[in-house]
Amino acid sequence: MKHIDIREIYSNSFYIGKTVTVCGWVRTSRDSKNVAFLEINDGTSFKHLQVVIDKENIADFDNAMKLGCSVKVIGQIVENPNNGVEINATGITVLGESPADYPLQKKRHTLEFLRTMPHLRVRTNTFNAVFRVRSVLASAIHNYFQSRGYVYVNTPIITGSDAEGAGEVFRVTTQGFDHGCKTEEEYYANDFFGRKAGLSVSGQLEGEVAAMAFGKIYTFGPSFRAENSNTPRHLAEFWHIEPEVAFAELPDIIDIAEDMIKTIISDVLAKCPDELAFFEKHFEPGLVDKLRTIISHSFEILEYTKAIEILKQADREFNYPCDWGCDLQTEHERYITEEVFKKPVFVINYPKDIKAFYMKQNPDGKTVAATDLLVPGVGEIIGCSEREADYDKLIAAMNARGMKLDDYKDYLDLRKFGSVPHSGFGLGFERILMYITGMSNIRDICLYPRTVGSIR
Ligand code: 4AD
Repeated sequence: MKHIDIREIYSNSFYIGKTVTVCGWVRTSRDSKNVAFLEINDGTSFKHLQVVIDKENIADFDNAMKLGCSVKVIGQIVENPNNGVEINATGITVLGESPADYPLQKKRHTLEFLRTMPHLRVRTNTFNAVFRVRSVLASAIHNYFQSRGYVYVNTPIITGSDAEGAGEVFRVTTQGFDHGCKTEEEYYANDFFGRKAGLSVSGQLEGEVAAMAFGKIYTFGPSFRAENSNTPRHLAEFWHIEPEVAFAELPDIIDIAEDMIKTIISDVLAKCPDELAFFEKHFEPGLVDKLRTIISHSFEILEYTKAIEILKQADREFNYPCDWGCDLQTEHERYITEEVFKKPVFVINYPKDIKAFYMKQNPDGKTVAATDLLVPGVGEIIGCSEREADYDKLIAAMNARGMKLDDYKDYLDLRKFGSVPHSGFGLGFERILMYITGMSNIRDICLYPRTVGSIR
């Protein structure tokens, strides 16, 4: 269908005075004595285009006034002091009608209400802004790594190992419920892969394989967690960016993580000013200043041991007590980043017992060279570590956790053949999007969120 994108019309003054065809969905409509107005959006622009209908010249425009219908408009583009440009319609065709039960009749609906209709909420301003920023951010992340010589690899989605060793894996099976096996082993031996398989919780272990050949790699794909965490920050299926860098120790990877976060935020600030202004107005006052401050100030680096001291001295009661050795809960993370430092904080050198087997063991025998990046409002957005590159130490850590070494033969080989210091991190795509947009529930960052007890 020959037509001009609304984005083109806004970005090119060439169209002023020209007669064009535009298409879109009707977002608002307003009728007055002689003239009627529509605002249409075709998805190419955050801004709607105003259609001016001279009622004398256009008969039969009533159906086009129904919210949610789709239209094709022919008309002349003219300047308008409020919107920049608008279109004086000479002809309107309704492509798809929208009856009165179209649910998005009001200007603003609650996010909870909109969650009940993921197929329609994308047509609201909020979700238009979320998905435009999401798309720009994805491109910014690829650009960051591509322009620095990282190789983009796609790690398997179905795996035979649980990368985090946490056991929170969705099983992948083709066997029916009534399979007649007596033991778990027998069951999996008869299954599609001939052994237990699941959806990947992280591409890290395979990413390390690639980094041991290509030096600097990154993945950008879905990860799956079957953890029973019904919170505004947890998804069962999220998108995960995982760079892995050879010849890099913990301070090197921390520098990379900070530089990447600042660079991608700068890109969004430059490319999505309208969307960010919208989030600032409706969701997080001060958002743009927050983002500008982030890119111009260094992040804090805080020893885990010091973090525990700060929490113990805090003039408040936490729901979860914290002593050296405990994992930091959301309330602790938020206190540190929102109230003490008021900026992103890398907490480094965690106790080894609360972290994964692959993290480099520090000389103190108690901690590992790991860090989580905590940000105000969201909490943890990055999990990061230098990897244990020493074969014997890695085996010892795996044995201490009762892991089956046979399942990790490839991974162990990396420490046998040309092992090097290397480090990597995992950034949760939806978590950084929450931070950048000020949206407070991760369900409002995805097209179809997958969370405990809910799938559509
Ligand atoms: O801290 P995590 O579990 O680290 C890993 O998976 C490592 N293998 C990463 C690596 O070193 N390559 O997860 C990394 C990040 C978290 O900081 C968080 O942003 C995001 O992934 N994440 C989730 N996001 C949404 N919902 C969930 N259930 C998430 N679990 C982790």
